[in-house]
Amino acid sequence: MTTAVHELPRIAGELERVRETTLELLEPLDDELLVAQVSSIMSPLVWDLAHIGWFEELWLVRRDGEQSAIGLDELYDAFRHERAERSSLPILRPAEARAYLEGVRRRTLEVLEDEPRDAYLYGLVLQHELQHQETMLQTVQLSGVAYPAPFHDDLPPSPEPEDVLVTAGPFTLGTNDRLWAYDNERPAHVVELPAFRIEPRPVTNKRFVEFIEAGGYRKRHYWSDDGWRWLRAERAEAPLYWERTDGGWQRRRFGQREPVPPDEPVMHVSFYEAEAVSAWAGKRLPTEAEWEKAARETGATLGRVWEWTSSTFSGYPGFEAFPYAEYSEVFFRDEQRVLRGGSWATDPLVARITFRNWDFPQRRQLFSGVRLASDA
Ligand SMILES: [Fe+2]
Repeated sequence: MTTAVHELPRIAGELERVRETTLELLEPLDDELLVAQVSSIMSPLVWDLAHIGWFEELWLVRRDGEQSAIGLDELYDAFRHERAERSSLPILRPAEARAYLEGVRRRTLEVLEDEPRDAYLYGLVLQHELQHQETMLQTVQLSGVAYPAPFHDDLPPSPEPEDVLVTAGPFTLGTNDRLWAYDNERPAHVVELPAFRIEPRPVTNKRFVEFIEAGGYRKRHYWSDDGWRWLRAERAEAPLYWERTDGGWQRRRFGQREPVPPDEPVMHVSFYEAEAVSAWAGKRLPTEAEWEKAARETGATLGRVWEWTSSTFSGYPGFEAFPYAEYSEVFFRDEQRVLRGGSWATDPLVARITFRNWDFPQRRQLFSGVRLASDA
């Protein structure tokens, strides 16, 4: 799909907007933090930064098969090294990474003017950068450094929900869009679901505290076998970043201690905790098909936390890897669970109804929460 001339200004505008946000996000952080290995499950922030430029160079500047001019493929191809070892590689220093991004962007804009790449490649690169922004915010949060209140952070109170009934019948899961959607969202296909009920909002902190106070983390029957094993190994007693104090539950958010706000959706829970709170409430997690149907038909509140679903990550019937197998196909494994919806840190270009996020069930650094469903 070639890029129409009238699209060029909009693409250039989005490239600029997204880049400004990336640089703004890193602006308050010193070089020491940028190069640090904050956690074994995260890359050093400066790796994310240069990798954003490398990905842009790969898809929007280079010709087929061309190597990176300055030998960066070995360092920034995400499949060559584990996250935990990236800080020990000879990666670009922060000033070098910024200069590299600038150089790539100059060439991207030249190519855009002279011989634009296919339109979907611009969507791919923009979304990639936006997704790394969210990953970088997870790293900042993990680091515990004081950090200014992050952008998009606007969480209105979330009252206790009533279940909504979604009636039985067919609906179309996924999309055939080839401009913005990823390969794993295609093809659109009709799915027949029995009726089910779903809450219009994610579980709030207040409700999650009730689960904790009811012995939620100590009662075996709320947990799956894998979940219980995880709980014992992790010794978890509350969501990540929470701490019990004399005055009630507190949490650490971007370096600040604060009382847990009761009306916000609970965040930083693993899939296992999501399952357990569902069991405590006498409910269950939605499948991703149920989630998508509910999002289409009920006007559920989206975009505040990623929501764990009970589905494992796999290709839809007729799946075709595009434009490369490593985007999603290599992650089609039973241990990967699908999350839906998008968080406060997810840009609207990414947080579409058909978007599928995935991660290991034990992960809690995600801005992840839970929505409850039940059979009708
Ligand atoms: Fe990436």
